[in-house]
Amino acid sequence: MKLRVALGADHGGFALKNELVKLLEESYEILDVGAYTLDPQDDYPDFAIAVARAVASGEAQRGIIICGSGVGACVAANKMPGIRACLCHDTYSAHQGVEHDDMNVLCLGARVIGDKLAAELVTAFLQASFSGEEHHRRRLQKVLDIEQQALRGSNDSHESGAK
Ligand code: RB5
Repeated sequence: MKLRVALGADHGGFALKNELVKLLEESYEILDVGAYTLDPQDDYPDFAIAVARAVASGEAQRGIIICGSGVGACVAANKMPGIRACLCHDTYSAHQGVEHDDMNVLCLGARVIGDKLAAELVTAFLQASFSGEEHHRRRLQKVLDIEQQALRGSNDSHESGAK
């Protein structure tokens, strides 16, 4: 079964998203959450949250969000519980972030990188899988604990300390 990938972009990433949809649609099931037209007045959080919702709900297994720098998309997507979004402009981080940290959303800055590097980055990201090694699970669990504590409104420091 094909991996389902949600893609979203504001005006800053609009053209690159369209290129990436063309590149990926043969090998992946694509959920394009917009923008569907180039609107210089649109806002990156609207597309970031649409991708984040799709991934957090399980509607898509991975997400890709593109804005001008990739920064705003990353900040917004990480507000959604269950999302581990990262801005990666090097191929090592694009796959290692999945293998070690279970990154589930890749953010890109279309004003920073070219379309060929973007294609290599999304390929590295989508072909990678979480290693599941014990020490990576332990670290991921600590990240998930931080998220749960924040959702409960607790200011307690991490119970396990700096072990
Ligand atoms: C839009 O002009 C730009 O600010 C946005 O795409 C993004 O770069 C924000 O991080």
